[in-house]
Amino acid sequence: MPKLNKIVFATNNAHKLDEIRSIAGESLEVLSLSDIGCHADIPENENTLEGNALAKARYVKEHYGYDCFADDTGLEVEALSGAPGVHSARFAPGTDHDSQANMTYLLSLLEGKENRKARFRTVIALIAGKEETLLDGIVEGEILKSPQGNSGFGYDPVFKPNESDRTFAQMTAEEKNAISHRGRATSKLLKKLKI
Ligand code: IMP
Repeated sequence: MPKLNKIVFATNNAHKLDEIRSIAGESLEVLSLSDIGCHADIPENENTLEGNALAKARYVKEHYGYDCFADDTGLEVEALSGAPGVHSARFAPGTDHDSQANMTYLLSLLEGKENRKARFRTVIALIAGKEETLLDGIVEGEILKSPQGNSGFGYDPVFKPNESDRTFAQMTAEEKNAISHRGRATSKLLKKLKI
């Protein structure tokens, strides 16, 4: 892949943008959706993380012509056959991005279950020129019986990675990024972009 000096990240999530911009530094200009004048609600209707990430990246490439990448993340719980997976943001019935409700619902489904194994998986779809690449990052761990810690977001208070005796919500952002699904997928992306 040729070395790029400009790329669109198909997101308006300020936290994700800051993170990748600080890693990429001067060598790569990372534009957000609003930077390119895209204010559309890009559909995320696929039933896999790969499908959603690719759909978002293809939307930007087709409508705006930029090289770009998009991500999608899910929590995959073994005893729930991989749920909530692609539905992680809207897991608790009748809710949308309600972390508290999602965690309470998850804990209720796991009540009495021995197997608490879970993993976070991030998929990044990169489109550069005509080349499409899928990259992923995984962190294995378990779902605790009650939330612990106040940092982070989403399911962080109930997820304990195998590498640590603390939940993601009990770590600093740096500690979490060093082992997280998104940190690992981002490292692969930067390697592919030769940064
Ligand atoms: P997204 O694809 O990054 O928007 O993630 C989808 C959903 O997965 C979020 O709304 C959260 O519920 C959950 N999620 C993603 N990443 C994390 C994380 O690092 N910690 C906890 N929950 C996360």
